[in-house]
Amino acid sequence: MPGMIRKISLADLTVGMFIHEGAGDGITQSLWKVGFKVQHPVDLERIRAAGVAEVFIDTCKGLDVAQSEPIAEMPPGGLQEEVDRALAVCARAKRAVVSMFNDARLGHAVNCEASMAVVEDIAASVMRHPHALISLARLKTADEYTYMHSVAVCGLMVALARQMGQPDALVREAGTAGLLHDIGKMAIPNDVLNKPGRLTDDEFALVRTHPLSGLEILQRSGFLSVAAIDVCMHHHEKVDGTGYPYGLAGDEISPMARMAAICDVYDAVTSPRPYKKPWGPAHSLKEMASWKGHFDRHLFQGFVRTVGIYPVGALVRLDSDRLAIVVDQNEGALLTPKVRLLLDCKRRQLLSPACIDLATGEDRIVRIEMAEAWGLPDLDQAWSGIAEQRHPLFG
Ligand SMILES: [Fe+2]
Repeated sequence: MPGMIRKISLADLTVGMFIHEGAGDGITQSLWKVGFKVQHPVDLERIRAAGVAEVFIDTCKGLDVAQSEPIAEMPPGGLQEEVDRALAVCARAKRAVVSMFNDARLGHAVNCEASMAVVEDIAASVMRHPHALISLARLKTADEYTYMHSVAVCGLMVALARQMGQPDALVREAGTAGLLHDIGKMAIPNDVLNKPGRLTDDEFALVRTHPLSGLEILQRSGFLSVAAIDVCMHHHEKVDGTGYPYGLAGDEISPMARMAAICDVYDAVTSPRPYKKPWGPAHSLKEMASWKGHFDRHLFQGFVRTVGIYPVGALVRLDSDRLAIVVDQNEGALLTPKVRLLLDCKRRQLLSPACIDLATGEDRIVRIEMAEAWGLPDLDQAWSGIAEQRHPLFG
């Protein structure tokens, strides 16, 4: 269908439409003279503030009225609005996990109520916007790994259980199971748990006892969540029967434990460890998809729908030869997330950090890129609004 210039009322204007040149009568700013695309809800507010009742849009260069329904029902600002709240949730959750895990290490009972409050807090953030807390919890130092890993797996389990259509009660169970899945590690001496180098065979055998140590800790704490006990015991089982401690296969492993296996590995490989650098989130999914026999395929597909093929924080190359970082998802549109521009690949120049919603068709992702290959500084926080002010790229 050929594009055209059409006059629309300001009420119909949405992100993704292209304002035709000279469209704003009597408005002298240069942008209005040359025309521009509405990129962000903030632009809409600026246009409304300009005081025009109608505008001309060019449907060759942007969305038309009929096709301008938003793809996702995300609030304006979406992820960025949840980032500050999710940061506070992560900090509270980490403190609670440190305290619960220390109790377990000292042989005390784990406080069930405390864990339920943490799960409520995390689940509420994930339900407001799944990608804020999940992306923040991925960023951790090697030192705080054990605790933040619990927070991250809790958030991922909540999001995955929701994605799989579980009722609220089971979503919370999944969150609790994620939070406590590794509590058995508190039975392992710290010098083995945090050893920077390769483990000896004996040390590795000790680490492999943590699923059953977890069961003991939960039982002596009077913890009655079936899902938490199940996930503690079985999150290292693999569907082909090569996991531990029992070598269970296929349906012998519960769906909840199969979900936990995916969330656990994704957070482990995307996190820094004393002995390895983190993999990028999109690269991690690609690798995990290629492992035969480890994960439940159906649940893994659900997991990819949860975090996105290009998860928040992924570095991607666009068709226009620009590097960009994924800053938000468009629900149901896995290949077209929202991205923030970083670098002109040909000229190797930093770009002003404008955001593009790839769902508008303005550009498209051609592949995943590695930050190191471009000599870029640590991109871990480049996606989040709070980091914008302090990130070297956006100085
Ligand atoms: Fe584990």
